[in-house]
Amino acid sequence: MMQDSQQAPAPIKQLPTRYDGIAKVTGTAKYAAEFTAPFPRKDLLYAWIVQSTIPSGTITAIDQKAAERAPGVVTILTPFNAPKLSVGKSQPPIKRSLNVLQNADIDYNGQPIALVLANSLDQARYAASLLKIAYAPTPARLDFSGRLGEARLPKSAGKPVPDTHRGDIASALAASAVKIDETYITPVQNHNPMEPHATIAWWEPSAGGQPEKLNVYDATQYITGVKQSLARTLNIPVDDVRVQCPYTGGGFGSKGSTWSHVVLAAMASRIVQKPVKLVLDRTQMFGPVGARPGTINRIQIGADASGKILGIQHDAIMNTSVMEDFVEHSAAPSRMLYTAESSLTTEKLVEMNWGVGTYMRGPGESTGTATLEIAMDELAHKLNLDPLQLRLLNYAETDPARDRPFSSKQLKDCYQQAASRFGWSKRNPQPGQQLEGNNLIGYGMATATYPANRQACQAIVKVFPNGRAFVGCGSQELGTGTYTIMAQTAAAALGLDPAFVEVKLGDSILPTAPVSGGSQSTASYGPAIDAAARQVKLKLIQLAINDKASPLYKPAATDLDTQGIDAKDGALFLKSDPTKSDTFAALLTRNGNQSIEATGSAEPAADRTSYTAQSFGAVFAEVAVDKDTLMPHVRRVVATYDIGTLQNDKTGLNQLVGGIVWGVSFALHEETLIDPIYGRTINENLAGYHVPVNADIGAIDVTVLNIPDTKFNPLGARGIGEIGITGAMAAIANAIYNATGKRVRSYPITPDKILTA
Ligand code: MOS
Repeated sequence: MMQDSQQAPAPIKQLPTRYDGIAKVTGTAKYAAEFTAPFPRKDLLYAWIVQSTIPSGTITAIDQKAAERAPGVVTILTPFNAPKLSVGKSQPPIKRSLNVLQNADIDYNGQPIALVLANSLDQARYAASLLKIAYAPTPARLDFSGRLGEARLPKSAGKPVPDTHRGDIASALAASAVKIDETYITPVQNHNPMEPHATIAWWEPSAGGQPEKLNVYDATQYITGVKQSLARTLNIPVDDVRVQCPYTGGGFGSKGSTWSHVVLAAMASRIVQKPVKLVLDRTQMFGPVGARPGTINRIQIGADASGKILGIQHDAIMNTSVMEDFVEHSAAPSRMLYTAESSLTTEKLVEMNWGVGTYMRGPGESTGTATLEIAMDELAHKLNLDPLQLRLLNYAETDPARDRPFSSKQLKDCYQQAASRFGWSKRNPQPGQQLEGNNLIGYGMATATYPANRQACQAIVKVFPNGRAFVGCGSQELGTGTYTIMAQTAAAALGLDPAFVEVKLGDSILPTAPVSGGSQSTASYGPAIDAAARQVKLKLIQLAINDKASPLYKPAATDLDTQGIDAKDGALFLKSDPTKSDTFAALLTRNGNQSIEATGSAEPAADRTSYTAQSFGAVFAEVAVDKDTLMPHVRRVVATYDIGTLQNDKTGLNQLVGGIVWGVSFALHEETLIDPIYGRTINENLAGYHVPVNADIGAIDVTVLNIPDTKFNPLGARGIGEIGITGAMAAIANAIYNATGKRVRSYPITPDKILTA
């Protein structure tokens, strides 16, 4: 592994438009379900997943005679005839419990229990409807709020440790002049990317001494994870699996894990020795592919009369599934967002017969800020303090949870900048005072935060004799800007215009990258691409100083080492005399017409545990609540973020705006409703599961401080995929309180809740 470059980051030249923009708007960008090659198209079979209709029990029999006789049916896989796989309770690389027809047990309503393969999708769906499934039901755990007494610590404590404390919280709370002790609720949510999960799998049979090979196109955030999971599950060497995903139509965390449909498609394809396409229906996105757990958060904050916080206690209870433990770390921000001498957080799980919980945009910090930041607003009101003033009074200059410095923290500037752009000084601290026509108007604010992550990553960079370049990395493009930033990063380090860089990603034959999750992609692949491109530049320089025909041949002794030569606009030049230059194209053409390439690796710095790398932001919201219907509308959100160096204005700010739209959605719309008797999601479609449309979204004003964090990585960039959602919910909730005087402590905030608050 290379250490990060100690040199200053190369200046970025931004691509003015998305690298993949034209392909997307013209429809040539291909998503997983759209591939029809390289296999013979006529061979393609369609698979349909059959789901259980009970939440708990076993399948006693499946009568498939009628389904087998239906037109176009090729085969039907059930727990009674499916091949045995090497499936344990933990699947690599992200430990997930998969139901892949290995036994007849039912753990939730909607669990995949059979797969029908046919010549068309309609034929597969019709045949599936003819299956006669007999169950032996067992009592199901479906009443979450009735089971809170069973809450327990996770079986394997994840990171961060879900039960942590500092100081003496009981004494701190007892000594506090002002106290908040309230319970805040966030619902189960489902990701609903526009592109549903989809897999096409096909096998190349063993021939000529070569083993059989598995290929898949998969809608994923993690091609390497899919590759490793399939290899392990199907018991074949990892290098005999190739996973491709040039575009992902949104993931938001749901496509970070390898779910059962991926394995089922590969398994079925191996049996029939034909390509198999398996696309989930929208309704199938509610259950088999994870959900954000619902959380119940009792938050106690104690402060002295001046507003100095003495203690914060956050006890969270959330649902998990009977299959595996998953923790939504909603208590995480309570440990570190503000100074407090004493702190106690607990996160406990209640086992349910629901589909498994999983990562969903801003896991932990979304639910955490959604709840803690209302409690902070309540505390400010009790203290008769401006909510922003309360945050400044308890500002954490260092990380109070881990007792170490931040790599870079500029949150104070975020508060100041966003407050001024918003016009916070015009806020009336008395709730329910501002009437405009029929609307009650309110202002609210909250703090945003998300950790900065990065993992080991590899990338390859080439320069061709025509002067153009190539960068390849097994990362993924979720619509976030990966293509664009990869091109820019390679171009900056090479000394080339990014328009001349071709990018390839989303193919497991490329150098390995981590999951595109946890807001870590740019911070992980960026330094690897930077390292590869710098090596290529060095090779070009060496070629030039040994080439008699080059103007840079054997430069003067002072320039002899490669430091005397740099590159710009696709040409090497002598720093001491820039008139002496040699274009990449001329140099490579003269030297055998060969391209030059290098592979680069990067990983977090060795001192990574000596500081906390974390992004922050300040979010301000203005809402209008109809005084008769109590329908809330978010008129304006103004937010400023401290995320290190912004790599690209268009893709970066778009990410943050998208996060805020999610924030509005979380605050006012989204909620997965699970039937308490049958255990099936009731609103398993986009008519019943509400997400905002354009009319629900008001003006969004996003700015970034753009202060580099080069301690974290040489590009100075922290991730921005998730911080945009954090803080936005509470800013809206607090604005609704300011508008109406009604404190709603349960999301989504709907008119009925405002009415009864
Ligand atoms: Mo994100 S929830 O880490 O894909």
